[in-house]
Amino acid sequence: MGVRAVYPGSFDPLTNGHLDLIERSLRLFDELVVAVVTNPAKTALFTDAERVEMIREATRHLREIEIVVFDGLLVDLTARLGARAIIRGLRAVSDFEYEFQMALMNRKLREEVETVFLMPHEAYSYISSRLIKEVAAHGGLVTGLVPVGVEQRLRKKLQRG
Ligand code: PNS
Repeated sequence: MGVRAVYPGSFDPLTNGHLDLIERSLRLFDELVVAVVTNPAKTALFTDAERVEMIREATRHLREIEIVVFDGLLVDLTARLGARAIIRGLRAVSDFEYEFQMALMNRKLREEVETVFLMPHEAYSYISSRLIKEVAAHGGLVTGLVPVGVEQRLRKKLQRG
């Protein structure tokens, strides 16, 4: 059996930075599961189903990936899936502290799983889902920063009146 990795996140919504990381991960691992953390407090802009759908649409051209929604601990998900690696993206030094803490906590909880950090293409280093939502909410253009389908859904969701 090949090596399976999990790429977890909120993906609210998927950006081209996330997509870039998915593509890089597919070059390294035999199987990739994109794991969308569920949104019980309803703080996300998009529902679980919408976030999954956006990932599915944007990855149609890629080798098959699995997409799951999860709640609870990420390490429990990796155990259930038999995944050996957790993929996380590092855009800048500012990401490091939070990511370092998570990686070490996950290691403490489950030593068998290794966190692998990948850097997205530098063209995407300033993109975050939070900024994308903020810009789109104020009518700014996010073309080229998110997949086309995501851009359309943002427009629909954030249309006023
Ligand atoms: O895209 P995000 O919001 O940066 O992703 C954060 C995510 C989903 C990876 C993180 O919040 C997480 O792993 N949540 C599941 C609960 C868990 O395992 N928490 C302990 C992490 S040390």
